[in-house]
Amino acid sequence: MYDFNNVIKRQNTKSEKWDTLDSLKSIPFTVADTDFAVATPIMEAIIDRVAHPILGYTVLEDSFYNSIINFCQRRYNINFKKNMLFITPGVMVGVGIAIDAWTKEGDGIIIQTPVYTPFFKVIEKNKRKLIRNPLKLVNGKFMIDFDDLEEGMKTAKAFLLCNPHNPTGRVFTKEELEKIVELAKKYSVLLISDEIHSDIIYSGQKHLSISSINDYAKSNSITMIAPSKTFNIPGLATSVAIIPDKKLRYTFFSKLKALGLHEGNAFGVIALEAAYTKCDNWLDELIIYLEENRDYVLKYIKDNIPRINISSPEGTFLMWLDFSSYGDHNKIQEALIKNNVILTDGLIYGSEGLGYFRLNIGCPISTLTEGLLRINSAVKELIND
Ligand SMILES: Cc1ncc(COP(=O)(O)O)c(C=O)c1O
Repeated sequence: MYDFNNVIKRQNTKSEKWDTLDSLKSIPFTVADTDFAVATPIMEAIIDRVAHPILGYTVLEDSFYNSIINFCQRRYNINFKKNMLFITPGVMVGVGIAIDAWTKEGDGIIIQTPVYTPFFKVIEKNKRKLIRNPLKLVNGKFMIDFDDLEEGMKTAKAFLLCNPHNPTGRVFTKEELEKIVELAKKYSVLLISDEIHSDIIYSGQKHLSISSINDYAKSNSITMIAPSKTFNIPGLATSVAIIPDKKLRYTFFSKLKALGLHEGNAFGVIALEAAYTKCDNWLDELIIYLEENRDYVLKYIKDNIPRINISSPEGTFLMWLDFSSYGDHNKIQEALIKNNVILTDGLIYGSEGLGYFRLNIGCPISTLTEGLLRINSAVKELIND
């Protein structure tokens, strides 16, 4: 049994989440890393490496590639070959390179809003055209509007999928992925699939990589995965691009190399290998812990703050809370801050985020309990206002 209940002080570690707070009294449930200790085999591998006084360039040995291939085989029953895999210093780097390599200025790229903020930026900063396919809330669940998606596909060059979806926590089903691929094939659209959250999947759900749907998806996609969210090592900036098609991977790798981004960093490489080979039990227990956190939040809110609407996440350690019944967005934000509970402002995920705030549940239950009490106090103030 791993101790995910252990509260670890993160201040003064240059933590983006904990060292940027305006008040030391605040608890942040924001940036998508977790407050859990990294699994022992990963720490041992890093400590072992640090013990050597030279931190030179790092070679990617077969054991590195095999760890990725076997992890994907073991956990997702998908098979990749070594030559399809590329290390990148972050998932968004891989997404940016794919956009740069495979599309040109003015080309349309579809995203499903509300969605992870850098998705907007990577399209706009590369001077591509943003095409929105907003998810629709149907009976409390965020669903794809396929008619709207088809309209978008007609003029799009690429589709940037987020699966599992940040911030809604949707894990798209086989049928949904099949429909996406069918449309992509019909309109010759490339699939850029960010699957960074794919390891955190709750009971009754199954993650399917889009590349496994059929031959079109396989030959027209890049899938980005990483041990970063799962094993809480995003600071090591190490992720993996999977590109089964020979032509696509040639253009991708040429760009990656031209920018000098094709090398791994010493700690990221060994941490990835340890994570993917020695931490399955840790991961299985993490998922159980996070699912309990999710259920705890759902029950607490149902029993105590039923005016907040939540669509239960099927994966990810993120929950998308609808506070809109409390009125003005800024006033809600102010009340949360005043009560020292910091959630991510839903508006950074697009205009669909009005009235929403994202809660990161990747923390010990005691931290989450305190956060919920503070949210409750904040909304009570709004009612009494
Ligand atoms: C969907 C999604 N993609 C990418 C990232 C960032 O990944 P990286 O730091 O590897 O670029 C995040 C981080 O929150 C994310 O939620």
